Amino acid sequence: MSAFVVAIDGPAAAGKGTLARRLAEAFDFAYLDTGSLYRAVALALLRAGNPQPTEAQAATAAAALDLGLTGDAALRDEATGNLASVVAAMPRVRTALLGLQRDVAVNPPGGKAGVILDGRDIGTVIYPEAPVKLFLTASVDARAARRYLELVDKGVRADLDQIRAEIAARDARDAGRATAPLKAADDAYLLDTSNLGIEDVFAKAKTIIEKARGTQ
Ligand code: DC
Repeated sequence: MSAFVVAIDGPAAAGKGTLARRLAEAFDFAYLDTGSLYRAVALALLRAGNPQPTEAQAATAAAALDLGLTGDAALRDEATGNLASVVAAMPRVRTALLGLQRDVAVNPPGGKAGVILDGRDIGTVIYPEAPVKLFLTASVDARAARRYLELVDKGVRADLDQIRAEIAARDARDAGRATAPLKAADDAYLLDTSNLGIEDVFAKAKTIIEKARGTQ
């Protein structure tokens, strides 16, 4: 029997990671944060002293990706996130990372019965066959406020207006690029998390997955 794949797509800071981790735990599924792959490519380039790579250089870095980097603390740095969004717009980088993502969908690590992949194009490009596709959105204001509170919680000084501007800029880059732009699959469930707490989002997503599993 093939693995049960849950695709979670949506813009930055919509709560995809938190939801994906909760669902993976609840269903004992594997989890792949595909954004960490683009971030790891960016980090490898930054560490190699190449903050403005050509597409060919970025594709080479993607093909040689060290998966160990996906656990690196510097993955979450603003500089890494910004370069990740630049390399993610390069078709050859996306192609270089495609096989790895599909492999995880087909053969989840740890022999798990299912897998959750979160990103921007899981339901549209990476694994359109997924029986459950969720598209998480939230207003720019709601996402900026969440990100701000996260940083303040960690003791990092943050500027709400600046965060809001960065989120809006990243949205425009992710949705406006020619290759695999951020958009919901036609058959995705839209979950707007602007006014929903994580518990409500989790409960809705869990019900959707349980129903889909019951009908397989
Ligand atoms: O979700 P994130 O912020 O960690 O993603 C980092 C960058 O990678 C972001 O600009 C969007 C991009 N990305 C993508 O293009 N496709 C994916 N499947 C996941 C992330």
